[in-house]
Amino acid sequence: AMITLRQLLDHAAEQGYAVPAFNINNMEQGLAVMQAAQATESPVILQASRGARAYANDAVLAGLIAGFARAFPDIPVCMHLDHGNGLPTCATAIQNGFTSVMMDGSLMADGTTPADYAYNRDITARVVEMAHACGVSVEGELGVLGSLETGMGDQEDGHGATEKLSHDQLLTDPAEAERFVAETGVDALAVAMGTSHGAYKFTRKPDGDILAMQVIEDIHRRLPNTHLVMHGSSSVPEDLQQIINSYGGDIKPTWGVPVEEIQRGIKSGVRKVNIDTDNRLAMTAAIRRTLTTNPAEFDPRKYLKPAMELMSEVCKQRFEAFGTAGQA
Ligand code: G3H
Ligand code: 13P
Ligand code: ZN
Repeated sequence: AMITLRQLLDHAAEQGYAVPAFNINNMEQGLAVMQAAQATESPVILQASRGARAYANDAVLAGLIAGFARAFPDIPVCMHLDHGNGLPTCATAIQNGFTSVMMDGSLMADGTTPADYAYNRDITARVVEMAHACGVSVEGELGVLGSLETGMGDQEDGHGATEKLSHDQLLTDPAEAERFVAETGVDALAVAMGTSHGAYKFTRKPDGDILAMQVIEDIHRRLPNTHLVMHGSSSVPEDLQQIINSYGGDIKPTWGVPVEEIQRGIKSGVRKVNIDTDNRLAMTAAIRRTLTTNPAEFDPRKYLKPAMELMSEVCKQRFEAFGTAGQA
């Protein structure tokens, strides 16, 4: 059944777990998530970015969502817009059956220029007013995602800030977070603490200097009832990097967010954990391996099925690690 983000995260907060939010762009990724949710009896957040909507077509995505809800009737599903950049995008997501939207006002609508507080507050408050009138939840974001090692945003995958950012911009200020939640009425708040989107988050296994989990603890102390969201939360598993590289791929040495750090966040109010890259790596690893091992194969189902299976394994591991398993 379809459920809002607020309903899902209120339950997660009561029970002390978090829900992974997996990005999907097509049927295979959606099925992989749903099969993992079913196998582990987990509620789930499926999220589509603006890029996913352009890739898959809104009407097709809406049909997929409805199909997943019918095919997996026992699994609570929240359908969420990832990184909305304005009122119209959020409105059309709602028209297409999304039960939750993110208004990311940490950047201007161009997706690269850091926004000031007043812009972020005003646009987010307007989206909250519109979405709540439709019974839809809203996630806001305060602080700009990017690397504390380099000060750079998510440039390698084509979105995120393009100017060099200060630590003030890259770390959400707890006092400002308190004010932002009060002034906007968001249902969940994404915060910045040193993660970034994509595969290249850290040049070494992160410690407190480059992954500032203490910021989340400080925010949670001021906002104990606010559901916090971690973006850029892929762990970038070394075994998946190795499979890709041993079958002709070229992933440079890199580190993601260790699952233990996310678990630490879950003890401090993190209730939604965004994961896209790990699933991209899993599908790519399986497809490279299958096609290399069976060069005569040309039926897409023969390589997409192993891709779904490996992606499902990653999703199951996250459901187990975040305490989501058994909560459906
Ligand atoms: O925002 C980051 C997500 O990984 C979605 O990426 O915009 O390439 O679909 P995308
Ligand atoms: P990753 O690139 O770490 O998977 O992050 C995804 C994300 O934050 C989507 O909003
Ligand atoms: Zn994100």
